[in-house]
Amino acid sequence: MTERETIYQSLRKDGISRREFFKISSMVAAVLSLPVSDGVRGLAAEEVRPSRSMVRRVRRAMETKPRVPVIWLELQDCAGCTESISRSNAPTLGSLVLNTLSIEYHETLMAAAGFQAEGAKNDAMQKYQGQYVLVVEGSVTAKDGGIYCTIGGKANDELLKEAAAGAAAIIAVGNCAAYGGIPGALPAPTGGVGVSKVITDKPVVNIPGCPAIPEVMTNTIVHYLVFGKLPELDDIGRPKAFYGVTIHDRCLRRAFYEAGKFANTFGDEGYQKGYCLYKLGCKGPTTYNACASIRWQNGLSFPIMSGHPCLGCSEPNFWDGGGFYQGQSAPLNKPTLAAAGGALAAGAVLGAGMAANNRRQKSKAESDEKEEA
Ligand code: SF4
Ligand code: F3S
Repeated sequence: MTERETIYQSLRKDGISRREFFKISSMVAAVLSLPVSDGVRGLAAEEVRPSRSMVRRVRRAMETKPRVPVIWLELQDCAGCTESISRSNAPTLGSLVLNTLSIEYHETLMAAAGFQAEGAKNDAMQKYQGQYVLVVEGSVTAKDGGIYCTIGGKANDELLKEAAAGAAAIIAVGNCAAYGGIPGALPAPTGGVGVSKVITDKPVVNIPGCPAIPEVMTNTIVHYLVFGKLPELDDIGRPKAFYGVTIHDRCLRRAFYEAGKFANTFGDEGYQKGYCLYKLGCKGPTTYNACASIRWQNGLSFPIMSGHPCLGCSEPNFWDGGGFYQGQSAPLNKPTLAAAGGALAAGAVLGAGMAANNRRQKSKAESDEKEEA
């Protein structure tokens, strides 16, 4: 087994000062504190204030634990999850995983190509046998011996099995890697399936979504890199901290649902008033994900807040499951008087949230313009 340097030693070798290390470890602590802050809506990771004990724990782990290399495989995918993580709280969170903590191989991001890239992957697999984290993006082609996705002359299922054999942990990011996603949708010409259908002798952590939420990917990977263990999972392999409740449970239109106030078509009066999108096919009641609390774009918004029903992108059978704009996912509740009052409050919250977003977008556009000028 190769003697490995600690995360701290590796950062110092890369020219990171002690002061910068303190900043990085505080950022890692903030990422790891996200689930605790899950009740706060629209929270960007950089706004999380981790507790002192968490910062101390993280700092100690980074000073004493060996650096864990990451090998990132892309199979049948659009690289959307890589896009998502590399733009998260740009550049801090993405670079934390992608540059600072250790990526040995990543087809989209590495400078090398062809034989050189394949050589780098094989070297890393050999050198860190039994020690690296394997992150997989994209589904596996299960039909016809995997011939629809080959890299360096090898079928993707063979590549996956090879890389999984020496991995200490396997993390499947995005709906494709978790459950087959779009390549697995009917008629599924390549027979796309999730990683856990091919790798059955090791646990696979699923971070589904289309794409997966960047903070959730970062948290899960960093959790393993720093503490050397995987988070607690639900019965379909998702970290409970982020997939423990439905979108509906935390939805800001929920009071309208309870009050029986719905948009019936895009653009109708109910839609303009910000009513519930259930009748437009919203899958929020049966979709487990953290969008309604962490949101997207550094806590700015999420589909329902922007006027679009949830499509259920973090669930198995996403895409085929009921169609996008039909097939509501749970029985309607009868409206109550209390809910009617809640609906008024929800309208105010939604309106205030949208106004705040408009202000943020306007001020961002203004600062972008200034920078360009
Ligand atoms: Fe929100 Fe959809 Fe639930 Fe309506 S059905 S409250 S829009 S999650
Ligand atoms: Fe996906 Fe629904 Fe969130 S479509 S992005 S889980 S709101």
